[in-house]
Amino acid sequence: MAELALNTPDLPAAPTSVFLRACLGLPAERTPIWLMRQAGRYMPEYRAMRERHAMLDLIRTPELAAEVTLQPIEAFGFDAAIIFSDILPPLVGMGFELDFIGGVGPSIANRIERPYDVDVLGTPPADETMAGTLEAIRIVARELGPRDVPVIGFAGAPFTLASYAIEGGSTKEFARTKAFMLSEPAAWQRLMSRLVTVQADYLAAQVRAGASVLQVFDSWAGRALGQSDYVRYVQPHNIRLFEAIKRTGVPVINFSLGVSSYIEDAVACGGDVIGVDWQLPLRTAWARIGYDHPVQGNLDPVALLAPWRELKVRTDEVLDDAAGRPGHIFNVGHGVLQNTPVDSVRRLVEHVRERSSQKGPA
Ligand code: CP3
Repeated sequence: MAELALNTPDLPAAPTSVFLRACLGLPAERTPIWLMRQAGRYMPEYRAMRERHAMLDLIRTPELAAEVTLQPIEAFGFDAAIIFSDILPPLVGMGFELDFIGGVGPSIANRIERPYDVDVLGTPPADETMAGTLEAIRIVARELGPRDVPVIGFAGAPFTLASYAIEGGSTKEFARTKAFMLSEPAAWQRLMSRLVTVQADYLAAQVRAGASVLQVFDSWAGRALGQSDYVRYVQPHNIRLFEAIKRTGVPVINFSLGVSSYIEDAVACGGDVIGVDWQLPLRTAWARIGYDHPVQGNLDPVALLAPWRELKVRTDEVLDDAAGRPGHIFNVGHGVLQNTPVDSVRRLVEHVRERSSQKGPA
């Protein structure tokens, strides 16, 4: 027996934080809660910082990015901190000229117009190009480690990033992106491959810096594409990305927006936890995803603009749909909106805490 014990590799101890436990599908004393875009313009502390600093300066200065990351943790006591950055800065290292323009959003001055533009893109290591964010993760992990609050690292999925690279900014139609995908399939493959290389490297670097969970945001593939185009032009690349980051050993959240009609294909891309958007009831989504996957979601962020009595009903619906199963992380089904009242966020967090720590049916 002694020999057997000697040969048994050390298993990592089960985590104690409610968020990490839920990410692994383990029972937790209550439902963990954090919100996508929890650091942002709905918070007066954030708006005060933005008056003094441009978006990209906030992102690139480790002390400032760490401060913004911690603001919602101090204000509301969320169970996880998502590092303050954006999905687009990694494009700068590849050669894109990115800016965030007030009232407009992200803008890329040298967008991709022809196959040649793909071939000049670089794939430098994140340790060189994203040093500010990696240092911010180190600072936040040092601060939150003793409080057992995990840090979430993140990146955009290749389609979502390609859409900004080709459109030069936000879009409703994705016409340029889809036209490029259909007219230049070989260049599309090369673009998606380079994006996978850069994002996989960046996500692994975030884990080395102290992130203990990763989230991949595929915000636009499901909005832009029908099922057959998704399976043909997106899924193989997402599979490669999720496969590559498995090696980090940390739980990965796959948040794919707008995929209700083919959620099984999004799940098949990979990821341990499935982020569910606000379109399907969580009950329906989880049954389709399969209970072997933990899920995260999925309050409609607009519910946070409604009076408390309505917000409470909607919040309880999400909790009831999860039915107290292990592996539910409460979140919004897309980012918190700018005009969200701070008080609604506070009440939401308190209510989810209270209701989910009661034993038995409510
Ligand atoms: O969640 C967090 O608190 C972490 C920070 C974070 C931001 N963007 C900060 C941000 C994260 C995780 C993102 C992800 C992101 N960025 C996505 C994927 C998630 C989603 O919402 O679908 C996308 C598509 C983007 C691209 C992006 N960034 C857009 C379209 C915009 C403009 C619209 C907007 O909300 O302002 C941004 C800007 C942005 N990213 C802001 C913040 C706080 C606002 C910048 C400002 O202060 O002016």
